[in-house]
Amino acid sequence: METEVIKIEEGKLDSAVAKAASLLKAGKIVAIPTETVYGLAASIYEEKAINEIYEVKGRPQDNPIIVHISNLMMLGQLAAEIPQSAEELAKEFWPGPLTMVLKKTENVSDTITCGLDSVAIRMPSHPVARAVIDKAGVPLAAPSANLSGKPSTTTAAHVLADLDGLIPLILDAGACDVGIESTVVSLTGEHPLILRPGIISLEDIRRVLPDAEVCDSAFQKVDESAKVPSPGMKYKHYSPIADVVIVQGSLENFIKYTSENARTGEYAMCFDGEENAIKIPSISYGAADDPEVQAHRIFSILRTLDMISTKRVFVRAPEHTGKAMGVYNRLIRAAGFKVVKL
Ligand code: TXA
Ligand code: MG
Repeated sequence: METEVIKIEEGKLDSAVAKAASLLKAGKIVAIPTETVYGLAASIYEEKAINEIYEVKGRPQDNPIIVHISNLMMLGQLAAEIPQSAEELAKEFWPGPLTMVLKKTENVSDTITCGLDSVAIRMPSHPVARAVIDKAGVPLAAPSANLSGKPSTTTAAHVLADLDGLIPLILDAGACDVGIESTVVSLTGEHPLILRPGIISLEDIRRVLPDAEVCDSAFQKVDESAKVPSPGMKYKHYSPIADVVIVQGSLENFIKYTSENARTGEYAMCFDGEENAIKIPSISYGAADDPEVQAHRIFSILRTLDMISTKRVFVRAPEHTGKAMGVYNRLIRAAGFKVVKL
């Protein structure tokens, strides 16, 4: 199959969106930009297309998919109950990088939810994603548009690198702003529970829902046979070909450790201004106190390091709290939970 990439330029939006929508309505899958990462979309009413998403990505059959909506009418089609907590979060954070897990209606198939009685729902803010959902006129099931296990895709070039020849169309709207996937909050239990941290932080959620908590499996290795609230959490994730080693401690100790342990061709991922002090080749993923820039860059840098066949990358550990929690969560998964503490 030939994969077409349409660059969204001034005056081209309508025809590109119309093409994507007509493919979706015809039961095909299409890669679309969102403000977090690129998504691989199918109509929620096209079972064959949803199955194809799992096949194309090599996605485990027990990892459910987020459904994307462009208005609150669609929420009513998907969620059996809309608790007040969901209304409050929607008011504050939608459209935007927040996904809510709610009890599902029968409009949502078991193929999307992997048999769970809940569905993850998000209203993206990206104008192209919104336009495609509007034009297709149906909610879209869309996981991140990467091969399963690889770092998520934040540019159309990343999507093409993973899915060329496997999907008919990629809409290219440049680099995604946020760079890591949405914050996932479950509202089906006693307390609001963050299943996947993101750029909307625990503190942001607690401003609206003070009793929100973060799920332990966000930071701990979970056995593949385990039953967890968010199935996606148990799989090795975001992993580049290179081995990722997170190094926690002072810059001084990082410099010493990498000088003693790195072999030729291995890299450091550091913070702005540290590149020259580090003795091995290094690349900054943002200022130490700027988690938004770090989030924007991490997947792209991990993909670049793979392109140059880096065997191992030593990463300066980000903060673990606030907006940095999402960055830390992705890096610790990319590292297979390996952290060197100095
Ligand atoms: O920002 C995002 O959320 C991106 C863009 C494309 O919107 N999408 C994304 O999808 O990251 P994906 O499939 O890569 O991650 C979905 C996560 C997985 O960890 C999955 O287990 C969880 O959401 N999930 C989906 N449905 C769920 C459900 N019913 N209950 C609990 N977790 C669910
Ligand atoms: Mg993903």
